[in-house]
Amino acid sequence: MIKIAPSILTADFTKLGDEIGSVGSADYLHFDVMDGVFVPNISIGLPVLESVRKITDMILDVHLMIDSPARFVTRFAQSGADIVVFHIEAEKPENIRPAINGLHSLGVRAGLSVKPGTPASAVLPYIGALDLVLVMTVEPGFGGQKFIAAMLPKISELRRIIDGRALSCELEVDGGINPETAKLCRQAGADVIVSGNNIFRSRDRAAQIAKLREAGQAHDVRGDQ
Ligand code: DX5
Ligand code: ZN
Repeated sequence: MIKIAPSILTADFTKLGDEIGSVGSADYLHFDVMDGVFVPNISIGLPVLESVRKITDMILDVHLMIDSPARFVTRFAQSGADIVVFHIEAEKPENIRPAINGLHSLGVRAGLSVKPGTPASAVLPYIGALDLVLVMTVEPGFGGQKFIAAMLPKISELRRIIDGRALSCELEVDGGINPETAKLCRQAGADVIVSGNNIFRSRDRAAQIAKLREAGQAHDVRGDQ
C-alpha cells in the first residue's frame, strides 16, 4: 500500500501542533530542512524537530537540504528523526557511508536523495545499505512547484533495481504531488509520496490524504504490497 508523507513546509507554523494533528491519518510526517546554501531557501531545523517530536508519534521523515549533511545527521537523529534523508550531491563520497552507518547505529533509518539532474546510478554504490531513496520531482528548495514528469523513468529504473536485488529500500517521491501525479509515481513504482501544498492547502486534510492514497491504489501495478 502506498504511504503518504505530508510535508509541513506549507503548514501554518503559528499552530503547528494542530496542523500536525490534522494529518494524523498519514504514514510519515515529512520535515524539510533548508540551509540557504545547498538550496536557495531557509526553513526549519533542530529546535523545531525537538518540539515536533514531543507532540507526535508519527514517523518523522527528515529531508536534509543542507550542505555537507554528514556533519549533522547524528544531531537530527538525536532530536527525534525516525528517518534521515540527505542529498548525495551535498556530500563528499567518502563521508556518505559513515553517515549511513552512524544513523543505523542510533537505530534511525537512512536515506539518500537525488535532485532532478542526478541520475539513479549515483545512489547505486549505497543502495544495499539504504532504507529509503528519495527522488526529487521538482528542484529542491520550495513547495508548490510543478511536477517534472521527466523524473518518471528514474523512478521506474530505481524500482527495477530495488526489486531486482530484493532490497527492503523504500522509494519516495517529493515535489508537485497531487492525485494525478501520485498515480503516475505509483505506476512508476514509488512506495511513499510526499505532499505539501496539495494536503495543507486543503480544508479537509484527512479527505485529501485519502484521495492521494486512493489515487495510488487505483493504479497500483505492484499488487498488494
Ligand atoms: C521541496 C521540499 C518538498 C516540498 C513539497 O524542496 O522538499 O518536501 O514541501 O511541496 P509540494 O508538495 O507543495 O511540491
Ligand atoms: Zn522534502
